[in-house]
Amino acid sequence: MSIQIAIDGPAGAGKSTVAKRVATRLAIPYIDTGAMYRSVTWSALQNNISLYDEQALVALVDNCDIQFIPGEPEQKVVLNGQEITTAIRTSDIGALVSTVATHALVREKLVQRQQQMVNTTLGVVMDGRDIGTHVLPLADVKFFLTASLHMRAKRRFDELVLKGYSGLYEDVVCFVAKRDELDETREASPLKKADDAVLLDTTALAIDEVVEMIIALCKYRQ
Ligand code: C5P
Repeated sequence: MSIQIAIDGPAGAGKSTVAKRVATRLAIPYIDTGAMYRSVTWSALQNNISLYDEQALVALVDNCDIQFIPGEPEQKVVLNGQEITTAIRTSDIGALVSTVATHALVREKLVQRQQQMVNTTLGVVMDGRDIGTHVLPLADVKFFLTASLHMRAKRRFDELVLKGYSGLYEDVVCFVAKRDELDETREASPLKKADDAVLLDTTALAIDEVVEMIIALCKYRQ
């Protein structure tokens, strides 16, 4: 199916799990734009670059070759030849990435790349915070996934525990709330539902129910 699907929403709303499954079902590529902001954050930390130094971050982005390599159970993220799939999913990167994402010039560069990636594919599922509003304003179908703060924090907590996290659930609630606040209040393309996006509250829904709803709507719109 040659269709562009934009999925936005706050942290822990289920975007990436849903986006991956929708992409597999429709046999189209999935682009995880959050992984790109996370990769830049990881690289800045590796290179001792301040997350507040916009010019240095822009120069860093220019030297970052970020590739998504298809794989099971998840696609691999490779930065300048080094695989960093797991390294970018730590709670430390999660706590810092929104600071990097506030810089308008960093966003400009990454949005350009995201748009170029889409130009080379027939259809795509792309998820993030500004896909429907900025990256793919003409996407065929747009979704804004959300859920209660507690449900989103619980999903994030469960994910982190599987990766060895031994901290408190309450801390995860604070992390998630803080990240959303930064994403919603930044000046450059803040997290916002596009006017023409379908709002899906996933609090009481299983992942597969959300996937089925999205696929049904995409088929109806085509
Ligand atoms: O989706 P994920 O949780 O991996 O995104 C990490 C962070 O990257 C978000 O909290 C946000 O600060 C930033 N981001 C963004 N715009 C996107 C994707 C992610 O600002 N399109």
